[in-house]
Amino acid sequence: MTELPTVRWGILGTGMISSWFVEDLVIERPGAKINHIIQAIGSSSIEKGGNFVAKHCPHSSPTVHGSYEDLFNDDTVDMVYIGVPHAFHEKFCLDAINAGKAVFCEKPFTLNAKQAANVFEAAKEKGVYVQEAMWLRHRPLVHKLRSLIHEEKVIGEPFRMFADFGLDVDIRNLPSTSRYRSLDLGAGSLLDVGVYSITWAILTLDPHSPSKSEMPDILATQSFQGNIEVTSSVILKYASSGRQAIVTSTTNINHGPGIIARIDGDEGYIEIEGRGGSIPHSFTVYKKSHTDSGRKYAAGEKYDFPEVGLGFYHEADNAALDYIAGRTEGAIMPWEETIRVMRIMDEVRRQGGTRFPVD
Ligand SMILES: NC(=O)c1ccc[n+]([C@@H]2O[C@H](COP(=O)([O-])OP(=O)(O)OC[C@H]3O[C@@H](n4cnc5c(N)ncnc54)[C@H](OP(=O)(O)O)[C@@H]3O)[C@@H](O)[C@H]2O)c1
Repeated sequence: MTELPTVRWGILGTGMISSWFVEDLVIERPGAKINHIIQAIGSSSIEKGGNFVAKHCPHSSPTVHGSYEDLFNDDTVDMVYIGVPHAFHEKFCLDAINAGKAVFCEKPFTLNAKQAANVFEAAKEKGVYVQEAMWLRHRPLVHKLRSLIHEEKVIGEPFRMFADFGLDVDIRNLPSTSRYRSLDLGAGSLLDVGVYSITWAILTLDPHSPSKSEMPDILATQSFQGNIEVTSSVILKYASSGRQAIVTSTTNINHGPGIIARIDGDEGYIEIEGRGGSIPHSFTVYKKSHTDSGRKYAAGEKYDFPEVGLGFYHEADNAALDYIAGRTEGAIMPWEETIRVMRIMDEVRRQGGTRFPVD
């Protein structure tokens, strides 16, 4: 039996997303390409880190550090996964890079494009691997969907798409320190979940993403509860093709499982089904048929993508393989693409009226 290559992860932060990530990282699955090790946890307290390990890493025995600095200085860690609120992404990416660690940082990569550029500049100087952890882009479902749309042209020319991502967050009753309530922490639906709606637009309308993506024209509006943005509606238009996306996000309602996006083409349409905007599990292609009595749609052809766990291992595998190959950028979410997405969100916020203290 051949030994799988191994990557030793350091997990920064012990909140919700870190728990999802570590549980998926070591889940048993056939055909795994990498041996992921949860090597160390960096938390604001040893106690919190210990509780996280007891609950979410029952089959691993990571070192628990009571400070993030100790995690960065842990020589046994290869790659740091950053799972803290977005307002801290720039700082901890920079700290990890300075310590010479490879970095895999949750979405949104930073609060604005300028911070993202700062991180990539530092990574370039230090020759260190950094990738935004935009797990949606790594899913096999997305690769199949893009190939059907852009190469096989199963719906002809796509001309528009819709995507929505809603969460139901009781913002009024959260503590003022919550990342959903504090502008200092990057609160608002756009960066939290709207980034997925924008990503669906890019994936389904721009065949050249990520290496040569086109910057779309942007028309956007945002609504607020107090000073926190709770609903964003964005129209993206690709000037070269006229393709349009209507993409939305909110923290006021969660419709639960169902259709999360639709792509319309001149020869048919595709509906994407999922548990939420970042957890698709299938899509259905409806092709237009031309008959004597007119034009109608054939019964849909469904493509199912059952997952073990939630599916974070796709992105983790790709990041680990990049790291082992000695790359500094990931092919699926290269630095320029992260900056482009951040620039789109900067412009949506400029038009919509969300300003973070760091802007
Ligand atoms: N990919 C996805 O599907 C997905 C889903 C949800 C969230 N996210 C992203 O992941 C990041 C974290 O989100 P989350 O929902 O996991 O947040 P969370 O549950 O609030 O946890 C964040 C963790 O960060 C650490 N932290 C450090 N400084 C903090 C501060 N001032 N306030 C709060 N926490 C602080 C804490 O861990 P310690 O005390 O142990 O250090 C905390 O447990 C966000 O950027 C979010 O956009 C991604």
